[in-house]
This record gives sequence, structure tokens and C-alpha cells, in this order.
Amino acid sequence: MATDQRVRTDVPTDVPTDVPRGEVSAAFDEVADRYDLMVALNPGYHAHLRRSARVLARNVALHGGDTPTVVDLGCGSGASTRAVVEELTRVGVSGLVLGVDGSTGMLREARGKDWPPRVRFAHGRAENFETVCADAAVATPVDGIFAAYLVRNVTDRDALLRSLHDLLAPGGTLVVHEYSVAGNPAAAAVWTAVCRGLVVPLGWVTSRRTRLYQYLWRSVMDMDSTQVLMQRMLDAGFEDVRTRSVRGWQRGIIHTFHGRRTEASA
Ligand SMILES: C[S@@+](CC[C@H](N)C(=O)[O-])C[C@H]1O[C@@H](n2cnc3c(N)ncnc32)[C@H](O)[C@@H]1O
Repeated sequence: MATDQRVRTDVPTDVPTDVPRGEVSAAFDEVADRYDLMVALNPGYHAHLRRSARVLARNVALHGGDTPTVVDLGCGSGASTRAVVEELTRVGVSGLVLGVDGSTGMLREARGKDWPPRVRFAHGRAENFETVCADAAVATPVDGIFAAYLVRNVTDRDALLRSLHDLLAPGGTLVVHEYSVAGNPAAAAVWTAVCRGLVVPLGWVTSRRTRLYQYLWRSVMDMDSTQVLMQRMLDAGFEDVRTRSVRGWQRGIIHTFHGRRTEASA
């Protein structure tokens, strides 16, 4: 079993430790005004998002019609939304982009940036995606869903993936951009060393908080293997399910997952 191979090395930091899963968005509120600074210190963060967003944009261009609707679920402070907008623009696709997040602080950061008129934001939980869209007057089904660093935070991933599948138009694309180290002891060891030596200390330096970054370490260690997540996507009804890891030192740690709702499942 992949779980037997995980490296569990405690990150030695101060109190308070960790975040219960139901409080993840509240923990993001605590660091929201420093989040962009934190990710700016992470080489590759934006390039990796753009690489996954490119997969989404190319598929939406092929299957999404003239003015598709694309949702960035767990949009945070807008880094992933920016990647989605830029990659859609690059392939000549217009249409609405809706960023959704459960953290009011992160959404405030996102809304405070310059966006083209086609970009909107809405507050809400990924698990209530359909209601969030209805409240924001965004019609479902949608043509593309991007979920960067979100799925790991959701307790019932099968239910989430099923609902995302059902809220996609036929031919619609889901791209998940996510950490996964289960079943890869070398990747787990690198991840633990980087969290211990860099991520948690930098979290303290930038925000005087560490619990979110301790949660980050643990949630990645507890995340599904790539094979398990792909199987969940297949079980939820997605087809053309595939994954690819990023390049560089985060190879084997961060991955792009692609799935499409079948054209014939209307
Ligand atoms: C690591 S940040 C990533 C933000 C952005 N996607 C990016 O790539 O920069 C994860 C975001 O997911 C949001 N989040 C976590 N669980 C959520 C849920 N169940 N529903 C909605 N948003 C959630 C958090 O509030 C946070 O802003």
C-alpha cells in the first residue's frame, strides 16, 4: 500500500500546531495579506500554475464553444485565476472566469487586483459549488474547472469530484493542480526537508504564523497518491484521465491532473 511508504517526520516548530480541515479557509484568512509574498519566495509557483492552466485552456478551446464559462475553484488571492485568464487569452478564448474561495481574506486580496471585465469572484465552499454559481448568477453547467491546491483540503473528495463532473457541460474539462507524494518516499523526504528548512520558517518570517504551513506539510503527506486520485476521477465519471508531474526539484511532488466529462453524457 502506498500509505505504508510515507515518510512521517515531524516538523519541529512552535505552537499552535496545525489546522482542523473545517478551519482551513479561516487559517488562510490569517495569512491572506502575506500570501502573495510567501508564494513569491517559492520558485516555480506561478510557472507551475500556468503549465496546468495551459492544459485547461487548450481543452476548453477545443470543447468549450465560443464563450465558455470557466471556474477557478479555491482561487485564493488570484494567482491561479491569473494563470487561467492568461492561458485562455493565449489560446484566443473569451468568456467568463469565476474565482471561488471559502476565505474572505484571500478573496479580498484577489478582488483588489486589476482584472479584465470578464473576471468575477464569489465567496463559498467548493462543496457548495452549484449554489455558489447560482448566487453569483453564473449559469451551470460550466465548460472548465481549475482547482489548484484545493482538492487536498476537501474531506470527501469522491463527493466533490462527482459534483464537479456533474456540473461540467458534456466535453467540459477539470484540471486539478495538486501535491501528491504518497508512494514516492524520495519525494516525501524532499517535501519534509523543504517544509522543515524553508516553508515553516518563511511562514513565520512573512506572517508570524506557522499553523497553516504545518497543516500544508501534513495535508500533503496525507494526500492521495497520483494513482488513487486518478481512480477517484474515473469513479466520478471522468474520461481521458491523465497526470503529469512538474519539472525541477518539485518533480514527483506537484502534479497536473486532467479529466473530461464525456461528450455523450448530456
Ligand atoms: C493554497 S491556496 C491556493 C490558492 C490558489 N488556487 C493558488 O493557486 O494560488 C488554497 C485555497 O483554497 C481555499 N479553500 C480550501 N478549502 C476550500 C473549500 N472547501 N472551499 C473553497 N475554498 C477552499 C483556501 O481558502 C485557499 O484560499
